[in-house]
Amino acid sequence: MQGTIRVSGAKNAALPAMAACLLSAEPVTLENVPDVRDLQTTRKLLESMGVEADCGSGRMRHRVTLKAGQIQHSEAPYELVKTMRASTLVLGPLLARTGFARVSLPGGCAIGARPIDLHLKGLEKLGASITQEHGYVIARAERLRGARYVFDRITVTGTEDVLMAATLAEGETILENCAREPEVVDLADLLTRMGARIEGAGTPTIRVEGVSSLHGAQHKIIPDRIEAGTFILAGLITGGELEVAHCHPPHLQALLDRLQESGATLEVKADAVRVKPGPPLVSVDATTEEHPGFATDLQAQYMALMTQAQGAAVITETIFENRFMHAQELNRMGANVKIEGNRAIVRGPAPLMGAAVQASDLRASASLVIAALAAEGETIIDRIYHLDRGYERLEEKLKSVGGAVRRLGQLIRS
Ligand code: EPU
Repeated sequence: MQGTIRVSGAKNAALPAMAACLLSAEPVTLENVPDVRDLQTTRKLLESMGVEADCGSGRMRHRVTLKAGQIQHSEAPYELVKTMRASTLVLGPLLARTGFARVSLPGGCAIGARPIDLHLKGLEKLGASITQEHGYVIARAERLRGARYVFDRITVTGTEDVLMAATLAEGETILENCAREPEVVDLADLLTRMGARIEGAGTPTIRVEGVSSLHGAQHKIIPDRIEAGTFILAGLITGGELEVAHCHPPHLQALLDRLQESGATLEVKADAVRVKPGPPLVSVDATTEEHPGFATDLQAQYMALMTQAQGAAVITETIFENRFMHAQELNRMGANVKIEGNRAIVRGPAPLMGAAVQASDLRASASLVIAALAAEGETIIDRIYHLDRGYERLEEKLKSVGGAVRRLGQLIRS
C-alpha cells in the first residue's frame, strides 16, 4: 500500500464524551467524532432519554451537539445495551444528574465475561443505593457524596463512569487504581471544560472536587490510537510506504517499541507515523497490559503481522479471558498459531492463502483484514458488522492507499 491514510477520532473517547452530555442541561459540542455504528447507537440511546442530538452532515459529519435540557427517561434498555456494552457509561451521569438510573446489565460478551461490578461498587461508595431487578441495575441517590474508592482492578469504562458521577457529588472524591488510558484523560479534559474540578487524570489517582452543576462546552475528540495502530500494522504487512496521518504517536508507544525491535522501518513524526519498506521483520513477544502497556485492542492485529515475521512470537493476553478467536481463522488462512491458555505462540513466516473466514468481534475483524491484505488470492470475511462498530469506512480508506478491498453487503472481499 502507498500513500496517506487519515485516522479518525477515537471511538472509545467519543463514547464516554457523549454520555457526559447527560451531566449538563446546556449543549455540549463534540468534534472529530468518528462516523461508526457504536456512536450511532449511543445517539439513539441518548435520544430515547430526551436528549436533543444535532449531527452535522457532509464535511461536518464528525461534529455532534447534544443537549440534555431535560432527561425524560433515566433508562438504558436491554435492546440497546445488548448491542453495545459501553451503554453502561450512562449509569454514572444519569444517577448524578437525576438521582435515578435504570440500566440493563450487559450480559455475556465474545471476548470475556466483562462484569460491571466495579462500576457499581464505586457508585455505592459515592452513596448510591443499588439493586438488581429483572436484569436491570437500579441506582438511586438523593445527592452523591464524595468518597475515597480504590478500584480492585483497573477498568477503563469503570473509571470513566465513576469519574463522571463524582463531578456532581458533594465534596471531594479520590479514586485510586484508575485506568490511565488516553481516553480517560480526554474525558477529564471535556469534563473540565464543562466546569468540573479534576486533578490527576492519566495517573492512578484522580481527585475530584464536586460542583453543583456543569455547563455546556466544545471539545475535540483525540485521534483513535487503535485505528492508527491497525493502519501501521496493515502498512507493514503489505510493504510499500504508508503515512498514517492525524494520529498521536505517544499514545502508541508500546506498539512502536515492539515494531522497532522487530526491525520495522518507521519514521515517527509529531502527528503521523510513516511506515517504510525494509528488511523482513523478526518475531517479538507482546503481553497485553493496561495503558501505557501493550493495548489488548491491538493484540489481534499484531498477531496477524507476527504470522509474517521470522521466528516465534509469544503473545500473552492478560486483560480478557477469551480474546484469541481470530487465531483459528488466521490458521485457516495458513498461519501457524498455537493457543496455550492465555498465550498464543505464533510461528512465522507462514505463507497466507485467501479463504472464507468469519469475524468474531471488532478487533478480530481488523486482524483478518490485515492478514487478507497479505494473503495470496481472495479472502472473504463474513460478519463485518463487527468492523463497522468501530472503524469508519475501513474498506474505503484502505482502497485509497491501494488495498484491494471491496465490501459485499455483510462481507469484505480482499
Ligand atoms: N472488569 C471487572 N469488573 C468491572 C469492570 C471490568 O472484572 O466492573 C474486568 C473486565 O472483565 C476485564 C478487565 O476488568 O477483564 C478490564 O476491563 P475494562 O473495564 O477496562 O474494559 P472496558 O472498560 O469494558 C474498554 C474498551 C475496550 C478495551 C478495554 C481494555 C471502551 C468503550 N471499551 O472496555 O475496547 O478492550 O477497555 O482496554 O472504552 C474495543 O474497542 O474493541 C474494546 C473492546
